[in-house]
Amino acid sequence: MSDLGTLIKTADFKAEKHVPVIGAPDQAKAGDWIDASATVGTEIRHPNTTEHFIAWIELYFKPENGPVINLGRAEFSAHGESAAGANQGVAYTDPRFATRIQLKSSGTLQALAYCNLHGLWQSAKVITISA
Ligand code: FE2
Repeated sequence: MSDLGTLIKTADFKAEKHVPVIGAPDQAKAGDWIDASATVGTEIRHPNTTEHFIAWIELYFKPENGPVINLGRAEFSAHGESAAGANQGVAYTDPRFATRIQLKSSGTLQALAYCNLHGLWQSAKVITISA
């Protein structure tokens, strides 16, 4: 049996279209509201078709001391589905999750994205919080 962690893939987002790219500053002050996002396909577009799509993105924060915290999740539900057939629909959701966060300690932002055909992909970004 495989641990889930061994099944999560990562790579350079500039060469691999599945890797979520974390948008957040390198540093911020404790208590400030910070714009944070995770986007799949910033350098290389990932397909968004009825057959092949990013289903969801989650964003986590791992403080230097303490367990990982789930900051939020976005599910992407429109991929051209239609009664007329696959890819005949009129709506698509782009795989981007954005929110605002407030941190009181330094740590690492972690993003996790799920492709319906190619599994789980992650990335990480260190953020330094000052008093
Ligand atoms: Fe994929």
